[in-house]
Amino acid sequence: MGSALEIGRDPLRAYTRYARTYGDVVSARFLRWRLQFFFHPEHVAHILQRNQANYSKDLYTYHLLRPAVGNGLVTNDGAGWLAQRRLVQPAFHRERIRVMAAEIDGATARMLDRWAEQASVGAPVDVAEEMLRVTLEIVGRVLFGVDLNSEAAAAGRAFRDINELITSYVHMPLPPYGFPGRRTRRLGSAIATLDSLVQRVVDERRQHGGDRSDVLSILLQDDGSEQGMSDRQVRDEIVTLLFAGHETSASALTWALYMASTHADVETRLHASASATDSADGHGYAGMVLNEAMRLYPPAWSFGRRAVAADEIGGYDVRAGTLVWVSPYITHRHPDFWDRPDVFDPDRFAPECESKRPQFAYFPFSSGPRMCIGSHFAMTEMTSILSAIARSFRLRPVSPPPEPQALITLRPRGPVLMRLHRR
Ligand code: HEM
Repeated sequence: MGSALEIGRDPLRAYTRYARTYGDVVSARFLRWRLQFFFHPEHVAHILQRNQANYSKDLYTYHLLRPAVGNGLVTNDGAGWLAQRRLVQPAFHRERIRVMAAEIDGATARMLDRWAEQASVGAPVDVAEEMLRVTLEIVGRVLFGVDLNSEAAAAGRAFRDINELITSYVHMPLPPYGFPGRRTRRLGSAIATLDSLVQRVVDERRQHGGDRSDVLSILLQDDGSEQGMSDRQVRDEIVTLLFAGHETSASALTWALYMASTHADVETRLHASASATDSADGHGYAGMVLNEAMRLYPPAWSFGRRAVAADEIGGYDVRAGTLVWVSPYITHRHPDFWDRPDVFDPDRFAPECESKRPQFAYFPFSSGPRMCIGSHFAMTEMTSILSAIARSFRLRPVSPPPEPQALITLRPRGPVLMRLHRR
């Protein structure tokens, strides 16, 4: 119970204390589970890549997510996962992402128009909320060909509720699924909101038809086989992609904007590179700023696996069934691999520096077969949004520095208000 309470109260502080006190490998019991945390890049490489076949996603956190995201790509495992991944993968090929650029630019331009009005009356904007809105709009358009603007507020609330409630369940010995009460009602209503949103997305496509080679076309294709995807599986994949595909990018963008606005030298270089049509595919200075923001505030700050068979990592025994956790948040601040780890310095991601680090000192998108399917799309989207903002506005925070809130994803707690100044 001690570990559960400590992690439940403040997960980032608990993980940081574990790493500082015990080092790279930490064992704990958490309620009825045996846990091991591995913070060294070599150990992370072992779990996610070299011996990944021994580490499954059959884990209580993913089971807790099921009522909301069902058996979508993030929570699915084994042969079912592989089939779905192979099916959806083509929608994320580089060629497709180039086609998405127009939608990304369009949504960003609409946001900047709204911002111009705010700027003219001197009103601040909540950058966290704005990033959630623009990334949800983009994911809706590029993956499913729909405009989710009218549902943005309700969907945003539903995803936030699911994130908060399910994180709170992780720390309870007996999650209150099925028991009547305020939490159950809130979760039920969040799921109902998403269900009706998905229904609209599917109905609209079925009515208007047409193969647009996007994710929705792939999910709905009728290949005449008996294994065609069930309505439930289609629903789960859509909710998963909406969830995984907007909150994460929104959070990284919010931190990047905040950090750039509070580091004058970074802001100056970002403005200069954005005006000089820096490449918008994740490279260039905007990409370095985003990578550094995700180093300090990785949206997927910790994730786990279950050891299928006994193993040995870094000289430590791992028993079969152990829940094994890695944490980008901790490894990205590991003092053996990062000089002055708490300092925000995008130059760490200059190509000549990157090659000097072990690969797994930095893994915001994970690695191996379960690596994020949307990593390239996310980098393209985020660099182009960050550069477009930098070309038009200088941002100045008007609220106290945002605190990271470690839910399933790491996001800034509360609004991040910034005043806009036209460049
Ligand atoms: C900054 C943005 C993003 C970050 C930091 C991020 C991070 C991650 C990480 C760490 C995982 C692995 C989780 C695990 O193994 O438990 C993952 C998986 C996944 N992500 Fe992302 N992600 C981002 C954006 C996106 C986008 C834009 C999409 C889709 C449009 C997406 C869709 C997915 C999916 C479907 C998976 C599951 C893949 C599988 O297991 O086959 N993500 N992401």
